[in-house]
Amino acid sequence: MTKTITSDDNITSFLTNVGLITTNGPFGYNVMSCEWTHQISYDPPLIALAIRSHKATYQNIIATKVFGVNIASEQQNVLSATAGNRSAKNVDKIKMLEEMGIKFYKAENIDVLMVKDACLNAECKLIDTKDIGDHPLLIGQIVAFQEDHAKKPLIYHQGKYWKLGDNIPKPGEELLNKISKLNDKYQK
Ligand SMILES: Cc1cc2nc3c(=O)[nH]c(=O)nc-3n(C[C@H](O)[C@H](O)[C@H](O)COP(=O)(O)O)c2cc1C
Repeated sequence: MTKTITSDDNITSFLTNVGLITTNGPFGYNVMSCEWTHQISYDPPLIALAIRSHKATYQNIIATKVFGVNIASEQQNVLSATAGNRSAKNVDKIKMLEEMGIKFYKAENIDVLMVKDACLNAECKLIDTKDIGDHPLLIGQIVAFQEDHAKKPLIYHQGKYWKLGDNIPKPGEELLNKISKLNDKYQK
């Protein structure tokens, strides 16, 4: 049944990647988990983050105008939970994670650390911000990236971590023919 939404409602149907957002600035080198990390343009190549303005990550990005997007791989759930449940305002997460065995390396074009063993590492320059809701949007243009297709992305859904499942095969010839006929029938 359709209901009128209130601020108490929690929509739980979405699933996302986890972006491990790396920054530098007033709170030092940092990493935080960001489920609202989305590619929003190929040309120019843009990524949007939705991050609350009181977070150290948001304030680092506003100060330096750069950030790293590291798309977490299946093996990085503990890293995601660790980076996403404490703030650089209180703890040096980079040192803490390094002691847990997580490896970082220096980005080539911007002064942030990048996360090793992620699916994607993208170095971004902030080009726009939009104060639209409780999570302001930060839009960055990718200036350099590397991808490891052997790694599978970690999935985040309903507050839990998941793995990619089986690929769903394409429909058979019979169904494809039927769809094609309907396509012809309903031409505008
Ligand atoms: C899996 C996961 C996803 C998260 N996604 C977001 C998000 O999209 N936006 C946001 O503002 N906070 C998000 N958080 C919460 C931040 O990661 C968390 O508040 C973190 O402590 C902020 O760190 P910082 O203050 O060092 O920047 C997420 C946390 C987890 C565990």
